[in-house]
Amino acid sequence: MKFKGEHILFTQQFDKEELLSLFAEAKKMEKVIADAKKGKESKILEGKIMATLFFEPSTRTRFSFEVAMLRLGGRVVSNPDMLNTSSLKKMESLEDTGRTIAEMVDVIAMRHPEMGAVAKLAKASRVPVINGGDGAGDHPTQGLLDVYTIWKEKGRLEGLTVGLIGDLKYSRVLHSQVILLSKFKGVKFVLVSPKELKLPAELKKEISRNITGVNHLPGDTFVEVENLASVIADLDVISVNRIQTERFSSEAEAEKFRGKFVVSREVMKKAKKSAIIICPLPRREELPTEVDADPRARYFEQVKNGVAVRMALLKKVLVR
Ligand code: NCD
Repeated sequence: MKFKGEHILFTQQFDKEELLSLFAEAKKMEKVIADAKKGKESKILEGKIMATLFFEPSTRTRFSFEVAMLRLGGRVVSNPDMLNTSSLKKMESLEDTGRTIAEMVDVIAMRHPEMGAVAKLAKASRVPVINGGDGAGDHPTQGLLDVYTIWKEKGRLEGLTVGLIGDLKYSRVLHSQVILLSKFKGVKFVLVSPKELKLPAELKKEISRNITGVNHLPGDTFVEVENLASVIADLDVISVNRIQTERFSSEAEAEKFRGKFVVSREVMKKAKKSAIIICPLPRREELPTEVDADPRARYFEQVKNGVAVRMALLKKVLVR
């Protein structure tokens, strides 16, 4: 991938070298943020404008994109409620919306409840579109910041045992993490979910496909379990995500699975001292606030890292 001028739609777009180069750039961006806080603001994206088009609720992702752009000296126009307040209400197509907005800005960040909708709009846009989450599909920038956090904290990605806990069927974040982490040699996935919410088969295939050539047998790099306590002691990374209630046919259907896997203080007693807990947030009962004081908790650092990663991506897509 050359980055400049490209849409960022799928986690699969990144190969290992591109990931590491993005992480190196994000590291530099942490310094840009520190300088900005001292009053020395960056001009890297001066004159550039980003539109954020959000068709689904968001706290972190939209602000993170916007802050990233502002920290680089760029500017932002934002619609957090496209579903109700844009011309889509007048039956405009996603394509026409994309084509229209692309005539006015330099880059678009977008979130949508339907899988594939961001790619659809991007097809009609002549400026880069970055996927901020499309339904139960993909959430590349969250996956990137999660893996960046792991890389920074552990100093490597190879050979880690990563526990993905919760709604493996619908969590786009866990899907993006699987795709990115399976690019690194010897990563072992421990997939912890109720049997109804297992990781989709294509993603299990993705794990096996990526390891071909690094001497692993298919199936060798993941195990599926329904009991968190039995595996917690093996994990280097404890990756938690809530049950994605809004993707179920009814709220009652989702309720059945809530509270099944709770990374409580009690459970963390058995985890490695060196383990880290990551979570894209928001959280509910699966990650009680009593765990926030645990030195292994990294979910608020992730928020900070997210700005740096998005800055790196915006820079690469817009200038180099
Ligand atoms: C996630 C999302 O929107 O997929 N949140 C985020 O972007 N930080 C995770 C979630 O909603 O559970």
